[in-house]
Amino acid sequence: MSTPSNSQGRENFEIGIAEIDLQHRQINDLLQRLKHSADKQYAYAASTILGELVMQTRIHFAVEESLMRLLSFPDTDAHVAEHRHLMEKLEKFKQRAQDFDVADGLSDFIQTWLLGHLDNYDRKFVAHFISRGIDPLAAPKSD
Ligand SMILES: [Fe+2]
Ligand SMILES: [Fe+2]
Repeated sequence: MSTPSNSQGRENFEIGIAEIDLQHRQINDLLQRLKHSADKQYAYAASTILGELVMQTRIHFAVEESLMRLLSFPDTDAHVAEHRHLMEKLEKFKQRAQDFDVADGLSDFIQTWLLGHLDNYDRKFVAHFISRGIDPLAAPKSD
């Protein structure tokens, strides 16, 4: 099954649970914006977007972690440890960005990490979540 894609890297973000896919797309969209402003040397914009990215990622991780615990996913601890590891890195980047020192290739680094995490961790809870009754098509209504 393929989905239409008109934004960079979007197709790689589908794991098959609509609400989680939506959150991953939102994070990816922020990454594209971060990349754009870093390329243009818009340091203040990059710093602001990075702050938003950190917040969205924190919320997304909290959602996944709650679902894993509520649905008794067996590998929750390893997955949570990976989330913590990235959050520590993101927080450090955010502090540096506040001093207008946005590292070259930061958005590429985050995107590479995110795609690796999706393949090595997020995809592994999909079958478990569905077997526990999650509706993979349930998603927030757009207004
Ligand atoms: Fe995750
Ligand atoms: Fe995720």
